[in-house]
Amino acid sequence: MKGLILAGGYGTRLRPLTYTSAKQLVPVANKPVLFYGLEALAEAGIRDIGIVVGHTAQEIMEAVGDGSRWGVRVTYIPQDAPRGLAHAVLIAEEFMAGEPFVMYLGDNLVKDGIVPFVREFAQGGCNAQILLAHVPNPSQFGVAELGENGHVVRLEEKPANPKSDLALVGVYLFDHHVFEAVKAIKPSARGELEITDAIQYLVDAGYVVRPHIITGWWKDTGKVEDMLEANRIVLDGKERLVAGAVDGESRVEGKAVIEAGATVVRSVVRGPCIIGADAVVEDSFIGPYTAVGPRCRIVSCEVENSIVLEGSTLVQLPQRLEGCLIGKGVTVVRGNGRPQALRLVVGDHSRVEIP
Ligand code: G1P
Repeated sequence: MKGLILAGGYGTRLRPLTYTSAKQLVPVANKPVLFYGLEALAEAGIRDIGIVVGHTAQEIMEAVGDGSRWGVRVTYIPQDAPRGLAHAVLIAEEFMAGEPFVMYLGDNLVKDGIVPFVREFAQGGCNAQILLAHVPNPSQFGVAELGENGHVVRLEEKPANPKSDLALVGVYLFDHHVFEAVKAIKPSARGELEITDAIQYLVDAGYVVRPHIITGWWKDTGKVEDMLEANRIVLDGKERLVAGAVDGESRVEGKAVIEAGATVVRSVVRGPCIIGADAVVEDSFIGPYTAVGPRCRIVSCEVENSIVLEGSTLVQLPQRLEGCLIGKGVTVVRGNGRPQALRLVVGDHSRVEIP
């Protein structure tokens, strides 16, 4: 069985970070979201993985390389524009060479991995297998309607009036019949070839589409709140590990990860949290569910439930930062000049909230 990871798209809901970075490379607990997907496929025994890339191809290729870090072989499949998930399947036909495959959306996180689903599919008996999860906001996903016998009856992409609360998780297993489906369907109202429509085609054509409702935690990290939630869940699962330097005036509480090369001085670090390599934390409080990226400098600040990307500087902020997503190389400092005012230089589509 092969793997197909989708790593294209514009990531508009994560702007401005996605103006300069692929959404699949935004880190959760200091590790790009995409790497969790690669790990999940590798763990399921998949060795041959195609990654569909778009305008951020260069950056994705630099981050992932040939896949040897995960013990897999990666082939890049360029997509000229985000033309839909089913279009990504269409252009991967040659790579798949008739083999069944797992398609994994590069911005999805499935906490417990996908080993049992891949095993179940490999045993045969169906042409496609979809994962479903109960969600409170089904209109934001593909939604499945199951019949009394538990079979898939209908699938709809982001319906205004969802027929159920079962969302399509971004992990799908297909045999070669999916290529017949993606060639038969037409673009949706938003102009994309929808994988949801392709699966509906399989159902209508009498192929066996097996649904599997997952109960473990799953997240599509498309939005800031989702990133923060994913960060919380992943940090919660980590063990305490203090490899960096912590001075005698500091206190490290709970499941904190302080990476080698990081320095903590006169501060309180309360896990679950992670402080990246070569970061400096001084006279500060790093609270639960915070990921501080490598080479950050945090001085006289309080930060919790936030993600701060590599190389950013936070100095002497008068209020605690909470629920923040701060990009790479950002500077947020207290200014002493007159007039006393907020002086902001923020990128397009940034969002700043002040009390
Ligand atoms: C895509 C699919 C949708 C699925 C979701 C899961 O939506 O179109 O059916 O439920 O991924 O993450 P997108 O995130 O591209 O809007």
